[in-house]
Formats: sequence, structure tokens, C-alpha cells
Amino acid sequence: MKVENLRELLIDELRDLYSAETQLTKALPKVAKHASDTQLKQAIEHHLKETENQVKRLEQIFDRLQEKPKGKTCEGMKGLIEEADERISDGGEPQTLDAGLIADAQRVEHYEISAYGSARTFANLLGESEIVRLLEETLKEEKAADAKLNSIAESINVEAKAA
Ligand SMILES: [Fe+2]
Repeated sequence: MKVENLRELLIDELRDLYSAETQLTKALPKVAKHASDTQLKQAIEHHLKETENQVKRLEQIFDRLQEKPKGKTCEGMKGLIEEADERISDGGEPQTLDAGLIADAQRVEHYEISAYGSARTFANLLGESEIVRLLEETLKEEKAADAKLNSIAESINVEAKAA
């Protein structure tokens, strides 16, 4: 899509995020299923619920903009999910697989944090304060999810080393 101005760029970024989050709602149940550590499993299940809510939040934003959320595929997220899928199919020691799934999940979080940060900046420049507020709510959740993964990784990485 050719973008002519900042509003169109914001919409394009938001459509990309909508695709990313929708893909994640479908991919996370499988990741949770293959995680062995209870804390990790719970963190992923918790983030699945948040992600479903983030999809709704994006729909709210599109309503405000009077635009449609669909029409784009986030190829970046598609690739990240494919890599996690591959790791799950390859299998291995449960603790090592968990450590790998955390690495995959943190890639996803960082990708989203960066995309939401850009969208928030564009919305801010466009004076869309309600959209900025909604994007910041999600951004906060993504950062918290990343921090949670960091703390879980501290013990899991040690277990993976010992496995
Ligand atoms: Fe998300």
C-alpha cells in the first residue's frame, strides 16, 4: 500500500499489528501446550487472554478512525511464529525447549513493543489522544509480559544448562 501521509502510515501500521495479534491468538495455545514449566505455561495463557483483549482494543481504534482493520498480513509475525513452530516440531529436552520458547516469545514481545511504540508516536503527532491512550495500555502489557519472561528465564535457563 502506498502511504501518502502520516494518518495513512498509522493505519497501515495498525493493520499490521491487527494481523500480528490475530495470528498470535491462534499460535499461543500451541506454545502453551508445549511448555513444560507451570509458570511459563501460565504466563503464556495469561498473555493469550491479554492478546485477545489487544485485538479488541485495536478494533476500537479502527472504529474511532472509521477504517477497517483487515487487509494486511504481518509477515514479520508470520516468520516468528513459523520459527517457534519449527522449534516445537524439533522437540528436545523439556527444559531446553522451554528456554527456547522463552527466547521465541521475547522476540515476539520486542517486535510488538517496537511496532506499538511507532504507532503511538504517529498517533501522538496526529493529536489522537484517545488512540495514544489505548496503544499505551497495550504497550504496558507487552512490556510486563517481556519482564515476566525475563524473570521466568532466570530459573529455566539454569535448568536447561543442567539438563
Ligand atoms: Fe500483543
